[in-house]
Amino acid sequence: MQEISEGKAKILTHDGVFYNPRMKFCRDFDMTVFSKIREEAGKKVDYLDALSGTGIRGIRACLEADYNSSFNDRSRKAVENIKENLRLNKIEAEVFNRDACILMREIPFLHIDIDPFGSPSEFLDSACIFPKYLSVTATDTAALCGSSPFSGLRKYASFALKTEYYPEVGVRVLIGRIFSESAKYDKAPQVLISFTKEHFYRVHIRFKRSPSSVKRAFKKFGYLFHCFKCSRRYISAITEETFSECDCGCRLTQMGPLWIGELHEAEFVKSLETPNEEIRKVVERIEGEADIPFYYDLHVTTRRLRISPPPIDSVIEGLEEAGFVATRTRFSGTSIKTNADIDELENILRNLKS
Ligand SMILES: C[S@@+](CC[C@H](N)C(=O)[O-])C[C@H]1O[C@@H](n2cnc3c(N)ncnc32)[C@H](O)[C@@H]1O
Ligand SMILES: [Zn+2]
Repeated sequence: MQEISEGKAKILTHDGVFYNPRMKFCRDFDMTVFSKIREEAGKKVDYLDALSGTGIRGIRACLEADYNSSFNDRSRKAVENIKENLRLNKIEAEVFNRDACILMREIPFLHIDIDPFGSPSEFLDSACIFPKYLSVTATDTAALCGSSPFSGLRKYASFALKTEYYPEVGVRVLIGRIFSESAKYDKAPQVLISFTKEHFYRVHIRFKRSPSSVKRAFKKFGYLFHCFKCSRRYISAITEETFSECDCGCRLTQMGPLWIGELHEAEFVKSLETPNEEIRKVVERIEGEADIPFYYDLHVTTRRLRISPPPIDSVIEGLEEAGFVATRTRFSGTSIKTNADIDELENILRNLKS
């Protein structure tokens, strides 16, 4: 047994009940997001920590975001631990010992959190039925980002191969899957914020319930066509025509389906407040990011050109001077999102070098 302090919570952990201290950043980040959701809701948010483990996330939500949390875990040992931790933090709350998928079909909550060990895919259908807000973690990054294409097909019904922008592909496959699960319930996702760190992806979604929003959202669900020779990419919505040949003459590889819409809501991100420097940096990077799908990793591009990578800010400046949109990206410190074509980016890189 160990006693741990995290945020405003104190918890006891026991062997056999899941607690990962490496996910503290994710939970810290959640508290910033949940506080904003609480403000938006205008009342205490009925929240289900559907896969609670020790209960740390739901307990912190009560203490730090003024949430009304309920807890669930199918493990008896976890449930005993949650009850003990609730007593320790002087919180009264409902604790279920159920299969999360059944519970989520029976009782409506305003906000559901799916924080599994590995893939969230088995929970997504039930998790999309009732809530207005859904938060999802995925740690099966290989299945999502194209490192393990067959796992991606099994878990997310989406095909991907590894590209230089694989973390973004992963987030988009995950959101795409959430969309295809929610569409059948007439719900369309509005992505509040999404990011990846170390070994996990995290997305926070607000659903809009109406058949017309779902119809519109299909324009944000589609395919990516990647050229493994020159790194050009093309995207098309699932209802649009596809691409087969790259401008360079090579065959394109089709990936998806995946989400090709926004990865955050500008107003929501702008309104986030946090005293935590590390969170603020991620939020600022997201806020400053252009809404352009995918990015170029300067290390990969310059390696192809056999030149050394110039400072990223000078490349952004060069692109902007040439009339293009160019920003950094939340997904990689060495990469740029731009609406410039690969030929134009390569020209600028060559000129910066000389
Ligand atoms: C990764 S842990 C949760 C960690 C916790 N949310 C945190 O922030 O520390 C996943 C938990 O889900 C529980 N679990 C797995 N499958 C479940 C299911 N179908 N229904 C309910 N609980 C489940 C496991 O017992 C485990 O405690
Ligand atoms: Zn090409």
